[in-house]
Amino acid sequence: MKKIIKLLSVFTIAILVGTSCAKDGVQGDKGEAGANGLDGSDGTAGCIQCHTSDENMQIKGAQWALSSHVTGGHMSGYYASRDGCADCHSSQGHQEVVATGEWDNIAPANPLPANCYTCHEIHQTYTEADWNFRVSDDGIPFLVNDYVSDQSNANTCIQCHQSRIAEPILDINATAEVTITSKRYGPHHGPQGNMTAGVGNSGAYELAGSMAYSNSMHVTSTDVNCVSCHLASGAGSGGNFELGGHSNNVSVGDWTEGTKSVNVNGCTTCHTDQVSNGDITDFVSIARDANLLLIDDLRTSLYNLGYLDDDDYVANNNVTISDDNHLTVSQPHAAAIYNFKFVTEDQSTLIHNPTYAKALIQNSIEALQ
Ligand code: HEC
Ligand code: HEC
Ligand code: HEC
Ligand code: HEC
Ligand code: HEC
Ligand code: HEC
Repeated sequence: MKKIIKLLSVFTIAILVGTSCAKDGVQGDKGEAGANGLDGSDGTAGCIQCHTSDENMQIKGAQWALSSHVTGGHMSGYYASRDGCADCHSSQGHQEVVATGEWDNIAPANPLPANCYTCHEIHQTYTEADWNFRVSDDGIPFLVNDYVSDQSNANTCIQCHQSRIAEPILDINATAEVTITSKRYGPHHGPQGNMTAGVGNSGAYELAGSMAYSNSMHVTSTDVNCVSCHLASGAGSGGNFELGGHSNNVSVGDWTEGTKSVNVNGCTTCHTDQVSNGDITDFVSIARDANLLLIDDLRTSLYNLGYLDDDDYVANNNVTISDDNHLTVSQPHAAAIYNFKFVTEDQSTLIHNPTYAKALIQNSIEALQ
């Protein structure tokens, strides 16, 4: 029954839109010109550029349904209906920021998780052009530093996957101490777009130290971005939509259980030695293990100074920051805390921009000595 109603409504809209096209469009001209007019265009000609019978949209939909954006539980309920949070944690909230350029908006009444309408301009012109992205082709102004980052067709990702402003904003050359009042001090959970904007633009604090700051080829190559790695065609087949494409997943499985599999299809142009899927997974695994040790070195330095609690929240004497327990430290020490949060919240174990992230870690450790 539901299916029939859905079908009927598709036809009703098709007829309605078709009728209005006929009024305003070519057929109307025909009427005015009289009997010599040309045949009118079909009112559904635009629709069937997308609503085709090859089930392409269903395939994209099946992949998207397996994306964390849908399954993760952070794009609904509390997160989607909280003012400000909805800017990135709901479809309509995101659209409002893109349309107005204003942040910290009132949450929408009926927030939806991200869907086709969120990223694409669905049903604007009713033609194939509606696959265009809502976000500007010119780049995304970062919240933290107003730097306009243009990451091509990944701009639609970095509008949400960017750092939020962390107070206090630091001046690493100033001598005055600063006070941190939130255990959640840091860039928030999705600073990937800032990490891939890299040297000078990321909003992380580039403390002086023994390692020079440079960007990885993952950042400098114009062929590589969020989309080329995370939306590369899927390695799976036979209806396995969990990896690549609109699943947004560059890997599936679990590292600690040994079930991880990385999608090689976004990597082959460069990592020619790791062409088979098993090999790229091993390659990532080895880099990841080494990088976890580096991250741990910084964690240990911060912990030993009392700046973290056992769950990595910011702390004073290892006691979690709260309303009556703040942390007052030098600017470089606060910067090292921020940088730790930046590299861990990026969640790629430094792989998004390894050369840059490693310098942030090493120089932060040195600043704490
Ligand atoms: C750019 C491609 C595109 C074009 C052109 C297009 N649609 Fe859609 N349409 C979509 C997408 C994507 C969805 C959402 C599918 C989903 O959520 O799974 C959709 C959904 C729908 C729905 C289901 C209700 C809804 O809003 O989700 C109807 C009805 C519909 N379209 C009718 C039309 C009609 C009629 C036209 C032409 C006048 C048209 N569409 C043109 C892509 C398109
Ligand atoms: C409207 C904001 C928004 C947009 C646009 C967006 N994301 Fe996300 N993304 C999120 C949020 C919020 C989550 C966390 C979802 C959850 O846990 O429920 C997330 C989760 C993810 C995850 C899974 C993270 C994990 O820990 O499992 C990946 C990978 C990802 N996004 C990649 C992308 C890529 C690639 C794009 C662009 C094609 C993109 N996102 C566009 C907001 C967005
Ligand atoms: C600038 C965009 C943006 C804003 C604003 C934002 N978030 Fe997020 N948030 C994200 C992205 C992107 C992710 C997904 C990160 C990932 O999984 O890598 C995320 C993830 C999360 C997660 C999941 C963390 C995890 O480890 O799974 C929580 C919880 C969360 N956000 C809470 C909030 C709350 C509460 C607010 C409002 C006070 C908020 N966010 C505002 C972008 C945002
Ligand atoms: C998080 C953002 C995001 C969401 C949500 C999203 N897409 Fe996409 N879509 C993309 C990106 C990125 C591309 C790749 C564009 C490119 O190759 O330049 C793309 C490409 C496409 C294309 C190919 C477009 C073309 O130019 O031929 C289709 C078709 C498509 N998406 C359909 C859908 C459908 C259907 C949905 C809903 C189930 C959806 N998308 C949801 C980001 C998104
Ligand atoms: C060079 C390829 C590449 C690029 C470019 C890239 N990623 Fe990733 N990303 C990865 C790899 C590899 C991982 C680690 C996967 C793992 O550990 O299972 C990862 C991890 C993540 C995670 C953590 C959740 C997960 O899937 O493990 C998120 C979220 C994410 N990336 C989002 C993004 C966003 C947003 C962008 C663009 C700003 C981006 N990525 C650019 C390859 C890439
Ligand atoms: C445009 C070429 C290019 C593409 C595409 C590319 N990589 Fe890389 N990758 C490199 C180069 C070059 C290095 C080493 C130096 C550097 O970081 O620039 C590297 C380094 C790495 C490392 C080592 C990280 C570390 O900590 O030292 C990993 C892991 C990795 N890549 C995984 C991937 C994965 C997974 C993909 C596909 C999803 C991918 N790369 C796509 C060029 C590329």
